[in-house]
Amino acid sequence: MSTMDTVVSGIRSTGNLHLGNYFGAIKNFLKMQKENNCYFFIADYHALTTHPRPDDLHGNIKQVLAEYLACGIDPEIATVFIQSDVPEVSELYLLMNMNAYVGELERTTSFKDKIRKQSDNINAGLLTYPVLMAADIIIHKANKVPVGKDQEQNLEMTRRFARRFNMMYEVNYFPEPDAYNFGEQLVKIPGLDGTGKMGKSEGNGIFLADTPSEIRKKVMRAVTDTGPVTPGKEPSEPVKNLFTIMNVVSTQETVNFFLEKHSSCEIRYGDMKKQLAEDIIKFTDPIRSKINEILSDNKYLAKVAAEGAEKARASASQTIRDVRRIIGYKPFGQ
Ligand code: TRP
Repeated sequence: MSTMDTVVSGIRSTGNLHLGNYFGAIKNFLKMQKENNCYFFIADYHALTTHPRPDDLHGNIKQVLAEYLACGIDPEIATVFIQSDVPEVSELYLLMNMNAYVGELERTTSFKDKIRKQSDNINAGLLTYPVLMAADIIIHKANKVPVGKDQEQNLEMTRRFARRFNMMYEVNYFPEPDAYNFGEQLVKIPGLDGTGKMGKSEGNGIFLADTPSEIRKKVMRAVTDTGPVTPGKEPSEPVKNLFTIMNVVSTQETVNFFLEKHSSCEIRYGDMKKQLAEDIIKFTDPIRSKINEILSDNKYLAKVAAEGAEKARASASQTIRDVRRIIGYKPFGQ
């Protein structure tokens, strides 16, 4: 038995990955993969809650897989797989649904958000989203889950479901997983529209696969303000957001240069944006060409997916065997 911690994390395949996904999640994955037993997957069952067209569903799964790999997630070290390739997770989801209460599911913030955002499609999958997420995590008996702030409540529910199962069957089977990040290195990347975080659907994001001209256009259009007038004053929210992005892609010197210009009220936001766009491009361009290279290699993608599925299923099927026995399913005569 290895003494390494088991890490599980996933990203929903609902669109291309953006800078927020990179600096909020993937950068942590890269650090964790060496020292832990990692399972990184594409949450494509979860993606069904928004009813994607079949071609879009497939295209998005392929895109996110290529993006994971292009960022440096190493399928030789970590287990990289597609959720729907591991049907065991849907069995555990069914079993866990029996011990999840409608009341607690209805009270989760993400569910209440969804009711507001997609009131024409409040399906049962949305309600039981935290149960599926719990199944993803506990099926590998994970100890650590690198997730952003917005997923903390879902992770709390995972802990609760794991604890409840253990109590109900008087076993100590599932560990209660902890949220995990590298402290200050987990940054929340804001969007370019002045408020809030970068999102896939918000239209405020810079994608890893964006071309240089798309990036320049987006950055030049980013919201700022009319310019500082009082020396030494803190930047306004939209400008602070640009500095936050600059902090992760530019050198400290560049950041300080524009901070000083801002502080002395001499800043020209156009110059700052030009610099920011070039620094983002410097960061994303090698990733973008890698994404395109991997996307054109279906054989490699198929191999990674198949090997990942095999490793994930080995771990998942062991858990399902144990859980079925604990619950009381067993062959006759035993
Ligand atoms: N709910 C997560 C999100 O929207 C994605 C996810 C699904 C996940 N299953 C998971 C994350 C298991 C961590 C572990 O970002």
